[in-house]
Amino acid sequence: MTHDIPSALAALKEWGVEGPFDFGLVLGTGLGPVADLVQNPVIVPYAHIPGFPKGQVSGHSARVVAGTIGKARVFVMQGRAHYYEHGDPAIMRTPIETMAALGIKSLILTNAAGSLLEDVPPGALSLIADHINLSGVNPLIGLNDDSRFVPMVDAYDPALRLSLKQAALASGVTLNEGTYHWFPGPSFETPAEIRASKMLGATLVGMSTVPEVILARRIGLKVAAISMVTNYGAGLFGGAPSHAETKSVAAEAGEKMKALLGEWFISR
Ligand code: HPA
Repeated sequence: MTHDIPSALAALKEWGVEGPFDFGLVLGTGLGPVADLVQNPVIVPYAHIPGFPKGQVSGHSARVVAGTIGKARVFVMQGRAHYYEHGDPAIMRTPIETMAALGIKSLILTNAAGSLLEDVPPGALSLIADHINLSGVNPLIGLNDDSRFVPMVDAYDPALRLSLKQAALASGVTLNEGTYHWFPGPSFETPAEIRASKMLGATLVGMSTVPEVILARRIGLKVAAISMVTNYGAGLFGGAPSHAETKSVAAEAGEKMKALLGEWFISR
């Protein structure tokens, strides 16, 4: 797939979306309502932007909501594409590079995830401090220059994480912190995979975000990622994840994400 950033920028400009933006925000399953924080929104369906995801996962919208939250100019992606939809781990490359071309320096990613910790139950929020990707899949495979050798120490920016913890305190939202194990999906994990994941040190599991973090770090964006726990991992504490459960819990617990991010953006 080619990554034609000028065409994406031109399409956005036709719809009245021009930089500079301060932040990019990607909203995962059930988290679309967080875009209600955006003031004076300009809405552009992905279908009108070359290189933006075309597929549909139920529980996801597929549109850009561009505007302001407090003083910050924010480019919100309401819905993402996943590796499992197309088998292309770089499916989010054009959107991420388009956001960078529009001036963002920091990218905030959100997702729905399974929890491996009993005291981080469905409905909880957790920062991602680090990830595990042992899948063999990487969005940079096939790139032929040294930019592919992306360092991944502090990929989840420590200063952004600190500021999100401060915003959590200020907004009265409990924010955990953990390690996210990426599974390509789309089937959920087996109980044996979840036990293995736990042994490896993961506290969260999910099917998104990690390829985006790698793509964003390649071009120097600062990244933060927040999981909304929708279920316990398969076989743990009665966990038997399903997409229906993911969607219904995300819809409820999305209010917490909205409170946290509202506070964080307004304090920028
Ligand atoms: N596993 C993988 N992805 C998920 C889960 C899960 O348990 N919950 C929400 N997304």
